[in-house]
Amino acid sequence: MKRIKICIFFFVGIGVSVFFSSCYKDKEELLYSSNNTADCSNPAVQKGVKFTAVQSVIQSSCVSCHGNGGTSPNLTNACNIVDGWSRINSRCIIQRDMPPSAPLNIADQQAITDWINAGHLYTN
Ligand code: HEC
Repeated sequence: MKRIKICIFFFVGIGVSVFFSSCYKDKEELLYSSNNTADCSNPAVQKGVKFTAVQSVIQSSCVSCHGNGGTSPNLTNACNIVDGWSRINSRCIIQRDMPPSAPLNIADQQAITDWINAGHLYTN
């Protein structure tokens, strides 16, 4: 009888910890998605200083091609910048073939790198 009780406690214990760890994951996912997909389309959320700097680089160097109805990604949309941080990093910082005419100047590249290092969120 004692053994059965110990077993029951054991399994209840596992159940409780699985339950709480799944709660934790849910919360983490919510946090992640709210930072990445909800903030950039929510006018009530203020954009961060580093993101604002990146957006102004993109405004002057990219949207002539990557504008509305232009080459994909449409970088006039803030969410496409947030979602596309990794591709922007590859093309502007690593390969340096965007814009096609010449690489961005060092200050503009640094603005992108600073934003990415800070977490590449709309609010960074
Ligand atoms: C003169 C027009 C032009 C300008 C300016 C330009 N691009 Fe592009 N971009 C293109 C074209 C055309 C492609 C598609 C062909 C390719 O991938 O090389 C492209 C592709 C890309 C891609 C890859 C898209 C994918 O689906 O993987 C990214 C990211 C990108 N550009 C970012 C930028 C950024 C950021 C800037 C500004 C710093 C910029 N581009 C400036 C014309 C331009």
